[in-house]
Amino acid sequence: MKVAVVGAGQVGSSAAYALVLRGAASEVVLVDQDEHRAAAHAEDILHATPFSSPVRVRSGPAGAAEGADVVVLTAGVAQKPGESRLDLLQRNADVFRTIVPQVLRASPGAMLLVATNPVDVMTQVAARVAHEVAGTPPERVIGSGTILDTARFRALLGEQLDVAPTSVHAYVLGEHGDSEVLAWSSARVGGVPLAAFADDPRCAVTDAVRARVDEGVRRAAYRIIGGKGATWHGIGAGLARLVEIVRADERTVMTVSTITPDVEGVPEIALSLPRVVGAQGALRTLAPELDDAERAALRRSAAILKEAADALGV
Ligand code: 2OP
Repeated sequence: MKVAVVGAGQVGSSAAYALVLRGAASEVVLVDQDEHRAAAHAEDILHATPFSSPVRVRSGPAGAAEGADVVVLTAGVAQKPGESRLDLLQRNADVFRTIVPQVLRASPGAMLLVATNPVDVMTQVAARVAHEVAGTPPERVIGSGTILDTARFRALLGEQLDVAPTSVHAYVLGEHGDSEVLAWSSARVGGVPLAAFADDPRCAVTDAVRARVDEGVRRAAYRIIGGKGATWHGIGAGLARLVEIVRADERTVMTVSTITPDVEGVPEIALSLPRVVGAQGALRTLAPELDDAERAALRRSAAILKEAADALGV
């Protein structure tokens, strides 16, 4: 499994490091317009390889992505304090219109994993360009979408309920951004609905707890950006996990973003829903049980993204 990480900033280098530590790739190539930065990260990460399973790590220009099975796209500008993810749209779409053809010329059969924000619209841009340039089918262009928000939701619920987050099945749907939807009605712990599991005063999921968890998930990026300028560990680990899923054709359910024909009446929009992910990409989309308010919130989230995608003409 050769993985090219395009964009050697905090997210790209963190993804490369996580790929190495998890043994998810046999070769990792870092590509960045700042070649010195990419080379420095590659050299630093190379020194972690005696502590991981064997993997080749190097840096190079876009052509170094040649033969990559997966290209992780993290290039573009990141949010500054006070900016929303959607504020980055035009600048990062321009970056993708240059970069995606370059990497697909080097590696026409690669699967694309998109992490650049606003990730849903950027996934839509990447999917359109990849289809034009290399005929890549939409299910092979996957945005990290709400995998991180879902992880945040599971981590906070796990803490509240005093159970491992891996035993919490709870999804964040829609935009990876302000309009995202925490799907409380379909949350389960070990197969048991949340209300039944939390039927113990010590871990009750009251309205106050819901509000705290909602805020904890939805505002996490703003809090972290306020404290250290950017977020990178969570998304880096999530991207490495996605590569692992693709590599082993795991068919694991993840809330990734891909172009979806219809979301609550909104046509052709990339956003996150739980999807079965394997070697060929996002293979199947699930429809979790939602109450009326959650359904309306998902429609609103899809409409916000549709407006942004239409404004860009993708
Ligand atoms: C995050 O949610 C900023 O999208 C990034 O951490």
